[in-house]
Amino acid sequence: MTLSRITLIGAGNLGYHLGRRLHAVGIEIGQIFSRQAVKAQQLAEAIGGEAITRLEQVKPGADLYILAISDDAIAPVASQLQKQLPAKSAVVHTSGATPSTALAPYFPQHGIFYPLQTFSREREADFSNIPICIYSPNKELEARLTALGRQISQSVHRIDDEQRAVLHVAAVFVNNFTNHLFHIGQEILQEEQLPFELLLPLIRETGNKIEGHSPKAMQTGPARRGDQKTITRHLAYLKKFPNFEEVYKVLTKSIRKIY
Ligand SMILES: NC(=O)c1ccc[n+]([C@@H]2O[C@H](COP(=O)([O-])OP(=O)(O)OC[C@H]3O[C@@H](n4cnc5c(N)ncnc54)[C@H](OP(=O)(O)O)[C@@H]3O)[C@@H](O)[C@H]2O)c1
Repeated sequence: MTLSRITLIGAGNLGYHLGRRLHAVGIEIGQIFSRQAVKAQQLAEAIGGEAITRLEQVKPGADLYILAISDDAIAPVASQLQKQLPAKSAVVHTSGATPSTALAPYFPQHGIFYPLQTFSREREADFSNIPICIYSPNKELEARLTALGRQISQSVHRIDDEQRAVLHVAAVFVNNFTNHLFHIGQEILQEEQLPFELLLPLIRETGNKIEGHSPKAMQTGPARRGDQKTITRHLAYLKKFPNFEEVYKVLTKSIRKIY
């Protein structure tokens, strides 16, 4: 049986984009839940389905319930849904950080549908190459989740809980931390009345060049070269940004250990 009628719990950054993508490939979204009526309604207007604001309104009968909600809310929401949905309902969450076992006490047919990308409502999302990380201890559900993943992306992977936890650590480094470093770069330029746009070609090339080469081989800069004079000058400048100075020291030490 294919997963053709889905209830979406959560209309945040991921729920918004996932709902639109599922709809675009012809999947029916029966209900969309958000505690904020405007968010559920806006999405329902775009992709159809009933906008609901209370979990008690979630109806039985969907092929799949997708919990695209904050990690801390997964277990309490599943606990609430258990009271009103048939025990055989298929329920997944979309988190890289929370194990599938968070759903296990409430729904025997549970799993993961984790798109490995950074989503913000204000940015368009192109799902075609986004890795969709699938897992379920129930083989039949896992096969159906894989088929669903293939409807929205060419890149679908079976990633178990342990692997996903590790993947999430790596994702925090390459996305969350690099984005924070972009922010630091912006703050420094702002302090000196220089436009952040000056750094954009450099940021793009940093991403582009590791497509065919290892990041280790592509490392450049004073830390890699062991250029202590430059490092000392940079640290002197950073005295006015004590938080950034700490980050600079930690990253410089990490790079020095490798080369
Ligand atoms: N955004 C990403 O880049 C991304 C990528 C991959 C995976 N994920 C995962 O997807 C999940 C959602 O992330 P997000 O970025 O979409 O978060 P978000 O934009 O902060 O949205 C969180 C959603 O969770 C709902 N929520 C929070 N607490 C709740 C509660 N107690 N009861 C019911 N609903 C509650 C919010 O509901 P209201 O609308 O009612 O406030 C909102 O719809 C997380 O597990 C995250 O790890 C996110």
